[in-house]
Amino acid sequence: MSQKMVIAYRSAHAGDVPAIEALINEFAAERIMLPKTVESIALGIEDFIVATDQHGRIVGCAALREYSPSLAEVASVAVARRAHGLGIGSQLVRRVEALAATRGIGELFALTLAPPFFDRLGYSIVDRARFPEKVRADCTVCPRRHACNEICVARTAIAA
Ligand SMILES: CC(C)(COP(=O)(O)OP(=O)(O)OC[C@H]1O[C@@H](n2cnc3c(N)ncnc32)[C@H](O)[C@@H]1OP(=O)(O)O)[C@@H](O)C(=O)NCCC(=O)NCCS
Repeated sequence: MSQKMVIAYRSAHAGDVPAIEALINEFAAERIMLPKTVESIALGIEDFIVATDQHGRIVGCAALREYSPSLAEVASVAVARRAHGLGIGSQLVRRVEALAATRGIGELFALTLAPPFFDRLGYSIVDRARFPEKVRADCTVCPRRHACNEICVARTAIAA
């Protein structure tokens, strides 16, 4: 018998690192996302929001990655396949935006293979050259830099 999922959202903590890593790297294995190490997730764990089901299992995650006091990336947005289409990805992005607003960050961008998902959330396609901070930090050392198919999207964050 199928059971309705009851989803809750919260800030991530250190104990969530293995589940976040498994979620992201499952999609990374399919080349839908870039892989992440346990170490990099642990270092930025305070910037992650997770979605959990009624059993406390992590079914989604997203992170705010800051580049400057006014600019951040909506990063690592992933929802377990069994929970797709329930609005969890959208809620995670909204919560990352709220986190950005509490930190006074006015501009958000993302690199994504799913621009229509971000379009529904009010993001527009932009040239990634607008964000040299990102290009310097990640793109220049990315193994897929010569065949990158990610689209850059951006929006002005909602005020706190
Ligand atoms: C993209 C992803 C996070 C969406 O999560 P989700 O919880 O299923 O999304 P939602 O239920 O909030 O969907 C919101 C809308 O976006 C659309 N959407 C969802 N995933 C989409 C995708 N991959 N491409 C295009 N549109 C998508 C939905 O159809 C929905 O539209 P609707 O409101 O008209 O019904 C999820 O599919 C995922 O984890 N994909 C693998 C990793 C990934 O691509 N991450 C995003 C890039 S960083």
